[in-house]
Amino acid sequence: MSDLRIAPSILASDFTYLADECEAVLEAGADWLHVDVMDGHYVPNITIGLPVVKSLRRTFPEAFLDVHIMIANPDVMASRFVDAGADMVTFHPEASEHPHRTIQSIHEGGARAGLAINPGTPLDWVDYLADELDMVLLMSVNPGFGGQAFIESTLRKLRDLRAKLATLNAEVDVQVDGGVKPTNAGEICAAGANILVAGSAIFGTTDYGAAIAELREGAQSE
Ligand code: DX5
Ligand code: ZN
Repeated sequence: MSDLRIAPSILASDFTYLADECEAVLEAGADWLHVDVMDGHYVPNITIGLPVVKSLRRTFPEAFLDVHIMIANPDVMASRFVDAGADMVTFHPEASEHPHRTIQSIHEGGARAGLAINPGTPLDWVDYLADELDMVLLMSVNPGFGGQAFIESTLRKLRDLRAKLATLNAEVDVQVDGGVKPTNAGEICAAGANILVAGSAIFGTTDYGAAIAELREGAQSE
């Protein structure tokens, strides 16, 4: 798969040494840095926010910052993450009053826009937004925590999403987030994903280079 991208989720890194951790995964071959923003309202966890994105932008000017906002009020906050330096902002439509307008606000700031679909959320949101979107993120765990088990029904949903995008004639990246490992990367990519987020499968190991290489090999195995 030529356009396969691996996006380590820094949520699983050691935040005490965040710059070292980011540098290490980038040197180990990461394509993007996946930044999980949680506010304690939309999801029952609090992680990091605007100042950290701003610092990452300053320290890693060349890195692609893939910012996944699991927050209430993305309509107001999405463009602020673009201003902070995000290259991609992905938000959850249930948390949004005006998803179409929010996508526009992300584009106006010069970033790419992604829509995140939870395990229990139907794909219908994509029907009239696909033309505007750069990426659809299928959550393969419920948002809020790293280290959860992959929800198998995501595979059927991935196939349904690819069929829908083909019908709509929309060229959109498809990202999968949650419980991704070298052992399931093959079936996930065969079902239609081209961007894999992985937290514990990378930062939970001692050799990030080997972990990323194993994910790439796994992704090509089916
Ligand atoms: C979950 C986050 C994920 C998470 C993935 O709410 O969006 O990005 O960090 O972690 P793993 O790969 O450990 O499931
Ligand atoms: Zn995420």
